[in-house]
Amino acid sequence: MKIPNLIILLLLPVFFTTSLQSSPSPPHFLKSTTNDTTPKQYFEVTHPLPTDDVTPSCFVSLLNHSFANTYGIPPVTVNYTPPPPTCNWTIAVLEFRAQCKGEQYDRIAGVWIDGVELLRTSTAQPTESGIFWKVRKDVSRYSSVISQSNLTLTVMLENLVNDEFTGIYHVNVSLLFYSATSVRVPLSIVPLESEAHLLNRKLISIENNEIGDKLDQFDRDIVLNSLYPYNKPADLVVPISASAGVNEGFWFRIEDEFDVKTQKVKISNRTYKAVLELYVSFHGNDEFWYMNPSDSYVETNHLSTGRAHGAYREVLVTIDGKLVGDVVPFPVIFTGGINPLFWEPVVSIGAFNLPSYDIDLTPFLGLLLDDKDHTIGIKVADGISFWLVDANLHLWFDCSDVKAQTVTSKVPSMEIQRKTEFELLDGEFEIKGERESEVTGWVYSSAGNLQTQLTEKIKFKNKLKFKDQGTKKEVDQKYKRKTKIKITNEIGQVIESLEVKIKYPLKVSIETKPGLDVDTSVMTTKVEQERSERFYGGKESMVLSHKQNCTGLMVVKGSSVLSGSAENQQNYNYNDGLGCYARVVDVVDGVVVGDDTSSICV
Ligand SMILES: *[C@@H]1O[C@H](CO)[C@@H](O)[C@H](O)[C@H]1NC(C)=O
Ligand SMILES: *[C@@H]1O[C@H](CO)[C@@H](O)[C@H](O)[C@H]1NC(C)=O
Ligand SMILES: *[C@@H]1O[C@H](CO)[C@@H](O)[C@H](O)[C@H]1NC(C)=O
Ligand SMILES: *[C@@H]1O[C@H](CO)[C@@H](O)[C@H](O)[C@H]1NC(C)=O
Ligand SMILES: *[C@@H]1O[C@H](CO)[C@@H](O)[C@H](O)[C@H]1NC(C)=O
Ligand SMILES: *[C@@H]1O[C@H](CO)[C@@H](O)[C@H](O)[C@H]1NC(C)=O
Ligand SMILES: *[C@@H]1O[C@H](CO)[C@@H](O)[C@H](O)[C@H]1NC(C)=O
Repeated sequence: MKIPNLIILLLLPVFFTTSLQSSPSPPHFLKSTTNDTTPKQYFEVTHPLPTDDVTPSCFVSLLNHSFANTYGIPPVTVNYTPPPPTCNWTIAVLEFRAQCKGEQYDRIAGVWIDGVELLRTSTAQPTESGIFWKVRKDVSRYSSVISQSNLTLTVMLENLVNDEFTGIYHVNVSLLFYSATSVRVPLSIVPLESEAHLLNRKLISIENNEIGDKLDQFDRDIVLNSLYPYNKPADLVVPISASAGVNEGFWFRIEDEFDVKTQKVKISNRTYKAVLELYVSFHGNDEFWYMNPSDSYVETNHLSTGRAHGAYREVLVTIDGKLVGDVVPFPVIFTGGINPLFWEPVVSIGAFNLPSYDIDLTPFLGLLLDDKDHTIGIKVADGISFWLVDANLHLWFDCSDVKAQTVTSKVPSMEIQRKTEFELLDGEFEIKGERESEVTGWVYSSAGNLQTQLTEKIKFKNKLKFKDQGTKKEVDQKYKRKTKIKITNEIGQVIESLEVKIKYPLKVSIETKPGLDVDTSVMTTKVEQERSERFYGGKESMVLSHKQNCTGLMVVKGSSVLSGSAENQQNYNYNDGLGCYARVVDVVDGVVVGDDTSSICV
């Protein structure tokens, strides 16, 4: 670690109550370096898309907009026109480019087509010399929406610009369309050269190859990045989002644990598969929910902070009031979070492309296929202000009516144990949760009478410690989810089985000591985090492990970082069964000192 050497613009703490995402109280900070002279490119570590080096069949520029003083005003909405019929496509990639210069907090943004969310993203904090970045996301799963005409595209990014906060976010949104025929598996995700038989695959044109349907299908699945449950894009995507979207954004703003957002849906009785995809982000007093102590701690110590209510949160989904699914979201840290010096120019896991979460509702089709309205509800267990949540209901249709029945449906509430021990400002808070669900339902369609059984085990544990009169905070959170999906036919043969394993461990420590100058403090910060997701199916598999390890120190005054030093190491490993992609990035004080990519499978 280097000696702190960044001179950082001093900003007085302000009452920034209007900020959508930011709050003046730590650990959400504002940084601004004056050191760079040229605009710098920021990035999130991720694997390249198979389409990255391919010329698109066509390109549609959707929006060029500068988000200046956009707080409290309606989001930007423009007409959406699909690509012309002459454009041959099966793969669609959304590109979100942004640039910003000056002083500004990080912001949250969403992109929707007719209320269907395509991307949840957050911005990087700019510098005086400017920053820019690009997010590319395969949005082929929304093909049924993207191919329609007469729709609207909405982008919401609430920003505040004044004499102090000068950063305007300039955003360009476009869609790139590719035909499957044109896409080859790029070298970057092809295994070692020595494995010639595999290497040859990159030369195989996906749709027209003559090797046979099996390989053709296999390759296309991978190329389309369409693992379960989107092996094939849905026939219809119904937004479960705020009806006031055109004026206030399509996300539901959830203020507390009693705040249930609902929407009525009536689905076609030709539906043979249904998946609810949730988009989630947390802000304000819940931006760092995993570090929130109990309410009793805050009350007993007469603290003014609203960041409390314990450190367990879950997004819960109901159908007609009945619990059908739950998600403990990946704790995405925005670029003002914990120590903003960590996130330049590499941002935190998921900051530019927040993960969405799938709840397979197929076994619940028995509750939905009756030509009647049903109410989908979304709430946040233990949540405090505020969460931005919405969902897309993906539906797949058969050629004629299907019949369905839900046989077993056991989705219990999380069993939670809490231990709270504190004396004045020091203490320990432990929350443990467990849940085992099992849902079985059959669907009788033209494919036969197929039974889907979904079993799931979840373990959650959060241990939060406050030491040295509360000046040292440590959190150690673990979350594990194992889902098994088994589809059997009439005679009990398993025709598809899939296992999904998710782990989101997180450790954060923040130690605050008085600084040399009046009103300043020195904070020593650490983050250790992983996003681990594994899918194993019959012929498909995907293993992702993305780790980050950050250590740093900063001198702060109010919520402004005056100086500091930080190191961020990230380790990305991706294997989709066809090949591997690995990247190791090391950033010290904003300078990328190591960035190695390889296609060796470990
Ligand atoms: C900018 O930072 C680098 C090290 O990160 C340092 O060598 C250089 O002197 C700094 N430049 C200015 C103008 O402060
Ligand atoms: C955005 O700007 C580019 C470059 O100036 C232009 O080609 C494109 O048509 C613009 N898109 C829209 C939607 O205005
Ligand atoms: C992005 O939008 C700006 C206007 O806001 C435009 O000047 C610029 O050319 C656009 N860039 C691209 C690549 O479309
Ligand atoms: C579109 O793709 C199909 C199948 O690959 C092909 O037959 C057709 O000629 C293509 N059309 C155009 C305009 O390229
Ligand atoms: C487009 O939508 C408007 C309003 O929903 C409707 O009046 C119009 O007929 C639609 N046009 C087409 C071509 O579908
Ligand atoms: C399926 O839906 C259609 C159209 O809404 C309706 O006419 C039909 O009666 C429904 N069938 C069943 C079995 O509910
Ligand atoms: C993170 O860094 C700490 C301290 O350097 C080290 O002990 C630990 O093994 C690292 N963890 C990972 C996952 O790299």
